[in-house]
Amino acid sequence: MEIAIVGSGYVGLVTGVCLAEIGHDVTCIDVDKTKINKLKKGLVPIYEPGLDKLLVKNINNKRLKFSYSIKDGAQKATAIFIAVGTPSKKNGDADLTYVENVAREIAESMTDYKLVIEKSTVPAETGKKVAQTIRKYIPKKYRQGNKLLLDFDVASNPEFLREGSAVEDFMNPDRVVIGVESKRAEKLLREIYKPLKPKMVVTNINSAELIKHASNSFLATKISFINAISQICTILEADVLKVAEGMGYDRRIGRQFLNAGIGYGGSCFPKDVDAFIRLSEKSGYKFHLLEQVREINEQQKDAFLKLIEDKMWIVKNKTIGLLGLAFKPNTDDMRNAPSIDLIRALQKEGAQIKAYDPEAVENTRKMVEGVTFSKDPYALAKGCDCLLLVTEWEEFHDLNFEKIRDLMNHPVIFDGRNLYHDKKLDKIGFEYYGIGRPAV
Ligand code: UDX
Repeated sequence: MEIAIVGSGYVGLVTGVCLAEIGHDVTCIDVDKTKINKLKKGLVPIYEPGLDKLLVKNINNKRLKFSYSIKDGAQKATAIFIAVGTPSKKNGDADLTYVENVAREIAESMTDYKLVIEKSTVPAETGKKVAQTIRKYIPKKYRQGNKLLLDFDVASNPEFLREGSAVEDFMNPDRVVIGVESKRAEKLLREIYKPLKPKMVVTNINSAELIKHASNSFLATKISFINAISQICTILEADVLKVAEGMGYDRRIGRQFLNAGIGYGGSCFPKDVDAFIRLSEKSGYKFHLLEQVREINEQQKDAFLKLIEDKMWIVKNKTIGLLGLAFKPNTDDMRNAPSIDLIRALQKEGAQIKAYDPEAVENTRKMVEGVTFSKDPYALAKGCDCLLLVTEWEEFHDLNFEKIRDLMNHPVIFDGRNLYHDKKLDKIGFEYYGIGRPAV
């Protein structure tokens, strides 16, 4: 099928490349000309495992094209995905300016039937607004009084892919959710995803939009739940890892997303929880549970900072090394990464900050000043008074800790992900602190 994707960020680009890979003719569109020019040359502007190979492959076999013009890119497409950003406004509402602009431009360039599909995470009822916008901006030549001479459908198809495993998630979805209001739209969407043979959930547009909100908020709730348990574990000298294991074997609960840490970050959970709280409030329901989820997440970040301040006693003039910066492994994304608040708070106290991350250094440079970046974990350890394990990158799993110990001023590790819980670092002379674990 001829498909256009408007917005070539994480979601849009992965969707476009993967849809080309499964056999469609795809045009990825973005207003950022530098980005589009890079993509045309086969260069991926983000770090996402596997994406670069598929991009080049599908450019070469001519199934993947790029454009900065909606008019050029979308006019020949039957299905147009909207995957533009929906950032949070100050009050937590999702800012839908980009979505509206795209809907208007699609309408203005329409010459035949279009299926317009929302892929961005948007508040319920956005589908209706998109349809209204398209109706309003379809050119005069395609109107007869109140009657439109062009047909179109709006649908919702929320994306559940995770950064760092986005290609894998797209190709092997747990489910594909489609919100549709017509048989024609349903048929086209089923055809688009047919090669993946996915479990399909077909519903109306509002329900599809809500599935996305409910899923992300539920996962965030699971993380905040275990983070709250980790605080109780600290007080009671219990072990959050054992609590999670014991809970996780219950198939109704499951072990996934029960890793206590330094709070969830990224471009989705913080923004989506805010947006769902606002959406519920506006529709007349006060979602106290989600307010607590957000609150616990903030407390978890503060608790890690307090632990460092408590154990280091005086932070001023100490050299602190961050192992990892990204909000999770396998990404260079620094949006809402807990490391940023951590760096700023420690710098405010007068600490010298060093950091190493395999992919996220360039993006971090744009957000903080005064940080010394190291070339590997060992260069980082040199001269540090303590290390903070912030992101559980694969390459941090098996470090040479004897070497690290000898390079540091003082061998102290604050393990924000409980990555080294079974390494018995205390036995080789480290002062070791995990999250929600009995002191060693
Ligand atoms: C999330 C959803 O998983 C995905 O379905 C949706 O489409 C977008 O949002 P993503 O933000 O890429 O994906 O990453 P995810 O793996 O879900 O992790 C989000 C944050 O939660 C990270 O900061 C991670 O470190 C944290 N996390 C995750 C925990 O602290 N504990 C866990 O057990 C799991």
